[in-house]
Amino acid sequence: MLKKLMAVTTGLVTVAALTACGENEAPAAGGGGGGDDKIVMGFAQVGAESGWRTANTKSIQETAKTAGVELKFSDAQQKQENQIKAIRSYIQQKVDVIAFSPVVQTGWDTVLLEAKRANIPVILTDRAVDSKDTSLYKTFLGSDFVEEGKKAGDWLVKQAATADVNGDGAIKVVELQGTTGAAPAIDRKKGFEDAIAANPKISVAASQTGDFTRDGGKKVMESFLNAQKDIDVVYAHNDDMGLGAIEAIEAAGRKPGKDIKIITIDAVKDGMTALAAGKIDYIVECNPLLGPQLMDLAKKVVAGEEVPARVVTEETAFDQAAAKEALPTRQY
Ligand code: AHR
Repeated sequence: MLKKLMAVTTGLVTVAALTACGENEAPAAGGGGGGDDKIVMGFAQVGAESGWRTANTKSIQETAKTAGVELKFSDAQQKQENQIKAIRSYIQQKVDVIAFSPVVQTGWDTVLLEAKRANIPVILTDRAVDSKDTSLYKTFLGSDFVEEGKKAGDWLVKQAATADVNGDGAIKVVELQGTTGAAPAIDRKKGFEDAIAANPKISVAASQTGDFTRDGGKKVMESFLNAQKDIDVVYAHNDDMGLGAIEAIEAAGRKPGKDIKIITIDAVKDGMTALAAGKIDYIVECNPLLGPQLMDLAKKVVAGEEVPARVVTEETAFDQAAAKEALPTRQY
């Protein structure tokens, strides 16, 4: 494995230099498992909660193969303690690099410090951590979630004339939040709220987590429909929760996309299909295909090259017409 070879080479040079001074060099750490010059990456995934996550996992697993990276993969089932366990196991196995998408933003400093002390570089993908010590990771590759929420809110502000479905002069939004404490849930909420502040007629009447799952979105929407009158708009932090909300709205005998407008984030195939069919009104894209950039960054980091502290994914947004056009060639 690459890091091992580099460490050994560096070690030989250092040993030669130190021997001249009569000192000894301790064996270099790092590089467990491979036995060849492959980089070994330990990847601690969030889970399999959504279509987005499935596409993200596939992208990482497939690109690892083509990039010649040996991937050790774990699924934390949306539990932080499982991710911490996985990261500790990667440290023990002395992988070359650890990458992970943190379930929630806080509570990572201890385990990241352990990785740092073991000289194993860490790359954050998709989601950020909320840590003051930015030396605990090398780079963060992923979307700008605040911007995604803002795009959703900006669209609603522009559509204000038609979004007052109930015609009572107020645009009542219900929000299906992502996992509590997760960066995309926090940031997408903020971006949306900032944007809708431009129109005092728009307000969020209720907001609750659906945990980024279809089932969660359906259950929360059922309770919103029971508790709230005159809902004009659903703002769901991902497609899956929006698709769950569609099921609840249809079960209540109403037409999603017409009787209640729906805005979601992700733009995975199922979401885009519902958008093209008129059941969703607008989707902000969140690109899950992070594999190629991740493998590239990992190689650089392991080789000791400088990488940018933040790599932001490029994304767009779709209305119903754009979804129809994009669907035939949509990769995920
Ligand atoms: O962190 C990205 C978010 O996590 C996606 O929008 C969502 O679908 C996923 O579960």
